[in-house]
Amino acid sequence: MSQFNNVVRFIKRPDGKPTPDVFRIEKERIRQLKPGEYLMRNAYLSMDPALVGRMRDEDNYVEKVNPGEVMQAYGIAQVIESNNPNVKVGSVRLGRIDMQQYSIFSDEEACKEINLGLASACSYLGAMGVNGSTAYFALKEICQPKAGETVLVSAGGSAVGSVAAQIAKNMGCKTVGIVSTEEKTKDIIRDYGFDAAVSYRGKSIEELTQDIKKVCPQGVDVYFDNTSGDISEAVLDTLNENARVAVVGRLGISHLADTKQDKGRRDHNIMLTKRVKKQGLVILDYQDRLRGAMIMLARWIKEGSVKGKEDIMHGIEQTPDAFFRMLAGQNQGKQLVKLADIDASVDPTPRWLGRLLISKWFPTEKLAKKITGGI
Ligand SMILES: NC(=O)c1ccc[n+]([C@@H]2O[C@H](COP(=O)([O-])OP(=O)(O)OC[C@H]3O[C@@H](n4cnc5c(N)ncnc54)[C@H](OP(=O)(O)O)[C@@H]3O)[C@@H](O)[C@H]2O)c1
Repeated sequence: MSQFNNVVRFIKRPDGKPTPDVFRIEKERIRQLKPGEYLMRNAYLSMDPALVGRMRDEDNYVEKVNPGEVMQAYGIAQVIESNNPNVKVGSVRLGRIDMQQYSIFSDEEACKEINLGLASACSYLGAMGVNGSTAYFALKEICQPKAGETVLVSAGGSAVGSVAAQIAKNMGCKTVGIVSTEEKTKDIIRDYGFDAAVSYRGKSIEELTQDIKKVCPQGVDVYFDNTSGDISEAVLDTLNENARVAVVGRLGISHLADTKQDKGRRDHNIMLTKRVKKQGLVILDYQDRLRGAMIMLARWIKEGSVKGKEDIMHGIEQTPDAFFRMLAGQNQGKQLVKLADIDASVDPTPRWLGRLLISKWFPTEKLAKKITGGI
């Protein structure tokens, strides 16, 4: 095993939109494990837009990253040494392993064991894992779309947005996506079966509103909001009576140093006159129901009724580039960084069990419903 860990350190808070000088790659020695700890070799890192919010010095739903700390990131890792009797060497785990090649943990719950018989490691970070589950709960619990309704999704090409749209489509809805460029509109129609898509880049709020109206002639019944900001302001005048809005992300205000700087039209008149129901969702609140959504998503992915796409870069040195590539919207699918292979021969988790849970003979839907609480 290497004695050294290459890490991406967060060195200063951005003034506005994060720039590459917020990171520095450093090499440090891996320390000896203490009793109860385990060491993991990190295999994949997920470049999540939500990490921008953690760079800010303001209230968020999770702890912020402070200058001098290793930059936060979620990913998949394999245990290579363990002083914790509950953590087996070889087990593959998902958690906040941060932007580094190796991670040390003590709490086995902080980095949860996963079963690669259910889905691939990449899928756990894309369509099937936390992102897919965010889409699942926000859509099913907050948006509650009905067949025939129009579901509009901002960041339509994102892992969360694309899964939300595919579930809605499978429920009989018309799906419309908002993405940055005309090229991406074609991509998401081809890859995720959107009925229509509009681009936002270079358009005024009013122009975007008009473009949404053209592709949603019956109005918008459900708005799955991954962006907030100007894009969501453009959606306001397209909402139907009794529309549901799930507020899931803030990509469109990621250029602000503080979210209090977000200025725009207030939505109260539309909310009141159109009787709109608007609710935020934080997936951390669904911890105990997550497994049910993941099992259902894994089944759909296996059947092909939900598709995911990943865009993989390689090596810890490429991690900052991968992160900024994602923020610029240049990624084609969920942006991941591969750091190491996973050694299947030492994984003690019964992968056959994962495969069984999503096989056509197993009552997967019943099990998923039981765990998710009926949705
Ligand atoms: N609430 C929760 O618990 C929770 C959990 C997970 C994720 N989320 C949120 O869900 C959203 C999607 O996350 P993800 O991980 O699925 O994303 P992702 O797959 O990494 O998608 C990234 C895409 O976002 C778009 N984007 C980047 N910067 C943007 C900007 N300034 N304005 C508008 N779009 C921008 C880009 O597409 P374009 O080129 O089309 O702009 C980019 O390709 C994020 O807002 C994230 O924070 C929320």
